[in-house]
Amino acid sequence: MPVITNIEDLRRIYERRVPRMFYDYAESGSWTEQTFRENSSDFEQIRLRQRVAVDMTGRSTASTMIGEDVAMPVALAPVGLMGMQHADGEMKAAKAAEEFGVPFTLSTMSINSIEDVAEHTSAPFWFQLYTMKDEDYVSRLIQRAKDAKCSALVITLDLQILGQRHKDLKNGLSAPPKLTASTIANLMTKWSWGLEMLRAKRREFGNIVGHVEGISDSSSLGAWTAEQFDPSLDWKKIEKLMEQWGGKVILKGILDADDAKMAAKLGADAIVVSNHGGRQLDGALSSIRMLPQIMDAVGGDIEVHLDSGIRSGQDVLKALSLGAQGTYIGRAFVYGLGAMGQKGVTAALEVIQKELDTTMALCGEKNVAGLGRHNLLVPEDFEGRWQA
Ligand code: GLV
Repeated sequence: MPVITNIEDLRRIYERRVPRMFYDYAESGSWTEQTFRENSSDFEQIRLRQRVAVDMTGRSTASTMIGEDVAMPVALAPVGLMGMQHADGEMKAAKAAEEFGVPFTLSTMSINSIEDVAEHTSAPFWFQLYTMKDEDYVSRLIQRAKDAKCSALVITLDLQILGQRHKDLKNGLSAPPKLTASTIANLMTKWSWGLEMLRAKRREFGNIVGHVEGISDSSSLGAWTAEQFDPSLDWKKIEKLMEQWGGKVILKGILDADDAKMAAKLGADAIVVSNHGGRQLDGALSSIRMLPQIMDAVGGDIEVHLDSGIRSGQDVLKALSLGAQGTYIGRAFVYGLGAMGQKGVTAALEVIQKELDTTMALCGEKNVAGLGRHNLLVPEDFEGRWQA
């Protein structure tokens, strides 16, 4: 096994190993990809304060997210089509998360179904919900997540309509891949992926195929979202979904202080400050830049999490120091999954925990709870100076 010292190592192996269509799906933002790029580059603008002569024995990255104990406040974000990055991808990532002690979030647009993941794991996982026009289907989906004993419903608010990612259209993204001449040529260079995929439990959208009727193309994320997703989702409908679920709710995809206030008013357990990894509104500001004003608006009222752009433990530390109680990684663990399955997800989590722990120590902190603005140097104009 190669020596993995950082997340970029995993990305490079992943790029070699997985068919281009699925690599591109993960490694894309919408339109010009400005927001996708800035999600990561904005983290670099924040610097750390080095402190010395602090007793560093007995450190811990442990914390809580929505009242659940976590080995570090880094959950696995919901990612669509994970089972195309690696055979049984969702089951393997969920198992790695369980063994590591961090939450796993299953996407509605997963390949393994809710039931597959529940059977394969014993720790409760979180289920991410996309709302559909077909209310009966949504009710059944919510019931399936309840039956699987999911401990939180993560409702995504920023994808009623899919942002355009050019490469997905050009590649003809589908699960399973449609065999065009260029796809076949690419697949022929991905033997180990293909051999494992032959043994996979599923190669289609497991929460959808067999559970709904009348879809024109059940293999296409683009077709499904355009036909089925509910573009009328508003706060009233969100409130109804929360009632229907009756358990812990995380509202994901908040990037504006007013929306954060609405989420807090509704009584959600947490929000995720997110621009969907730069995959939806291109031109929106990065999550890390928006975090301070959202903390100012609702930090005392609701637990705040952050995703989009995290590729290291240093990034996690910066988000926590600006006030987030928890963070999520998406691409950072998908690289590991595509590179080497469950072991790769574990490797990604280990890399991030080690970076977080060492960086925390060099900042003079022994626990994540002690992190705060005092650990950071934030440029004066970090939030931007925009006209009213
Ligand atoms: C779906 O959630 C996507 O971003 O592709």
